[in-house]
Amino acid sequence: MDKVGIGLVGCGTVGSGLVRNLPEANRLLQQRLGIGLEIRAVAVRDLAKQREGLPIPPVADWKAVISNPAVQIVVELLGGTKDSFEVAKAAISAGKPLVTANKALLAERGQELIPLAQKAGVPIYFEASVAGGIPVLKALREGLVANQLLGLHGIINGTCNYILSRMAEEGSDFAPALQQAKELGYAEADDRLDVDGIDAAHKAAILCLLAYGFLPPFPKVPVEGIRSLAAQDVSFARQLGYTIKLLAVVRPVGADRAEVRVSPTLIPARHPMAAVHGVFNAVSLVGNLSGPVQFTGRGAGPDATSSALLADLGEAARHLRDKSPGPVLPAGGDKIRLIEPGDSVGRFYVRFDVRDQPGVLAQIAGIFGTEKIGISSVLQPEGHGADSVPLVFLLEPAKESSLQKAVAAVQKLPLNRAPARILRVEDLA
Ligand code: NAP
Ligand code: HSE
Repeated sequence: MDKVGIGLVGCGTVGSGLVRNLPEANRLLQQRLGIGLEIRAVAVRDLAKQREGLPIPPVADWKAVISNPAVQIVVELLGGTKDSFEVAKAAISAGKPLVTANKALLAERGQELIPLAQKAGVPIYFEASVAGGIPVLKALREGLVANQLLGLHGIINGTCNYILSRMAEEGSDFAPALQQAKELGYAEADDRLDVDGIDAAHKAAILCLLAYGFLPPFPKVPVEGIRSLAAQDVSFARQLGYTIKLLAVVRPVGADRAEVRVSPTLIPARHPMAAVHGVFNAVSLVGNLSGPVQFTGRGAGPDATSSALLADLGEAARHLRDKSPGPVLPAGGDKIRLIEPGDSVGRFYVRFDVRDQPGVLAQIAGIFGTEKIGISSVLQPEGHGADSVPLVFLLEPAKESSLQKAVAAVQKLPLNRAPARILRVEDLA
């Protein structure tokens, strides 16, 4: 077969990784699939930038890449949701399969894009958008397709996991750990997407689409990042037998509701996910037939992302050569809705900063009792100065609205020195 022409729209951190990895991958794709890929056009924003290893001079007009007759597959690597949407739409109109690593595009504009692609019969491949080198979307779409998925947990932002690991293991500060993640090519061009949990929420939305055929309306997905995570909570969690990870949760609630959220979460220190360090990601899910399944692997960086992009390119080339169908997106999620945040049921960690005086613990415990929230552990560390002391509660499962009501009632008491800190707890049982 003649080589298949690919056009890159964007050639930054991820695109240059793809360019660097293509020659060796081409040898394997040729040997295994009888497919050879060739970069025939590249668009970038700044033509004056030095770029190593590009086989052809880039252009500044991405439309020229898509309309180039030698380009058969379009690879969108711009990021963002505006130009990237136009690129995707143009590739679909031109009938050229699209390969993308862009989770923001899929999560925020998938509702518009996917029907366009389906109507035109043009496949979109996006394995690289979730969990880097772990082929988890393919596993959901194919290997687990006959399972009812009972729930899924994911550590799906490499940058945050890298920062949290450096902070927990080396006592590193937040800023230098983030800087290192940027230098290693893990972080988004706008690193607030990582740190504020938005990137993980994009991926959680895509996982929900694959798991339940339902792409949640993105603005309604509850998201909290790691920016305001305090070292003392990491330490108290450890004393209670837990590790804090930025965790995505995707699970069905009854027949027609789903819970999708991202937040710093206490997970048991003995669970295998707690041992997922650095840039590694993990997705842990339970199928009704498969039982628990766990994937781990590198979640970010040019090489791990190239692994997924090149696999997708191989599939897209086979689609063109063999007329094989594009990736199937599960249907059947039309009636599913997100639960209201207050209806979420789970365990919580709550730290109050209170006056160090007799009777405080009893008052707070009384308020939790009134809301019918059980207490499983209390931590009141010794050795705190002045008249303020942290008082940490690990609670039994409760509805989030009841928890919020109880915490608000405690905060009204004159014994508080600072706002309470609430964190989720997932026992991953
Ligand atoms: P990046 O380094 O910022 O690269 C973006 C590229 O797009 C640059 O080459 C830029 O040109 C070009 N570009 C931007 N606007 C353009 C326009 N209007 N016309 C033509 N070219 C334009 O981003 P990245 O880190 O490679 O990320 C790319 C995508 O991969 C994002 O969707 C990201 O979320 C996703 N992703 C990243 C990772 C990772 O580990 N970093 C992993 C998985 C997925 P210049 O080079 O001239 O600036
Ligand atoms: N910025 C993302 C992360 C890249 O750190 O996980 C991989 O999607």
